Amino acid sequence: MTIKKVGIVGAGMMGAEIGLCFALKGYEVIMVDREMASAVLGKEKQANAIDKRIKKGKLDEADKHSVLARVTPADDYGMLSDCDMIVEAVYESYELKTEIYKKLDRVCKNECIIASNTSSISITKLASVLPRERAEKFIGAHFFSPASIMKLVEIIPGILTDAATIASTQEILEIIDKVTITCKDVTGFVVNRLFHVYAVEACRLLEEGVCSVEDIDIACTLGLGYPIGPFKLLDNMGHDLNISVDEVLFQAYGERFRPSSYMRRLVDANLLGRKTGEGFYKY
Ligand SMILES: NC(=O)c1ccc[n+]([C@@H]2O[C@H](COP(=O)([O-])OP(=O)(O)OC[C@H]3O[C@@H](n4cnc5c(N)ncnc54)[C@H](O)[C@@H]3O)[C@@H](O)[C@H]2O)c1
Repeated sequence: MTIKKVGIVGAGMMGAEIGLCFALKGYEVIMVDREMASAVLGKEKQANAIDKRIKKGKLDEADKHSVLARVTPADDYGMLSDCDMIVEAVYESYELKTEIYKKLDRVCKNECIIASNTSSISITKLASVLPRERAEKFIGAHFFSPASIMKLVEIIPGILTDAATIASTQEILEIIDKVTITCKDVTGFVVNRLFHVYAVEACRLLEEGVCSVEDIDIACTLGLGYPIGPFKLLDNMGHDLNISVDEVLFQAYGERFRPSSYMRRLVDANLLGRKTGEGFYKY
């Protein structure tokens, strides 16, 4: 299937960046949020991301206008009726996501692929609210933040996802310069399972007083060769999301993912990381 027009549902941090990946490669993008103001804010985030590229000499001013002209912010799901693929990136809530899929089922054309950017919810379970033919065209496409820069996308077929949907998803993601891996529909997929066990252990080192935040980050960058330490990365991701993913992984796999009580206290104090100005570090 040839994908020409792409819909994004949820123009937040991930949705805006994912929409930008498609717009940069010449695709027309309809970006729907629950309110027009949020959709427009998503487009402003895209403009800021483009400005950073211009500063680095990766894009010029003329490109900015043509890329942004391809993105239409909207608050009306009906605008998605002729999209060939939709990427859903709303809050990590089963109830919210499945309500949205029911709406999409009413408005989207039959052959439209619906991909979820969920970090932790089962793709098969999300697809279960859809009729069989739609469930066959439903898939997980897990981007990483910031999506316009990070190369990897995990592709997660549900039990009912058909081979053509997997192939078309791989193909379009390669066109937008992503590298894909395909994995089974298990909790946390691959990257989050690897990352969270490491991050939880970093928090334990901190809680046990073994080492400071700064020194653990130095240990991981200079000792393991990671480009960024666990606490800087956790602060970038936001502790509300981090804790909710830890909880899901803890439920699925037990003790090795037990959420950090220190991070829970940060969440209670609304010290969510970079987005609130303070987390493990002050910004
Ligand atoms: N933040 C990350 O690093 C990251 C990485 C990979 C995947 N994810 C996943 O991506 C998804 C989105 O995360 P985010 O960090 O971008 O969240 P976010 O809070 O930045 O954005 C969510 C957006 O969804 C919108 N929304 C809420 N209800 C809606 C509705 N009914 N219709 C349309 N839009 C609606 C909100 O207004 C908001 O703009 C989640 O499933 C998350 O688990 C996040």
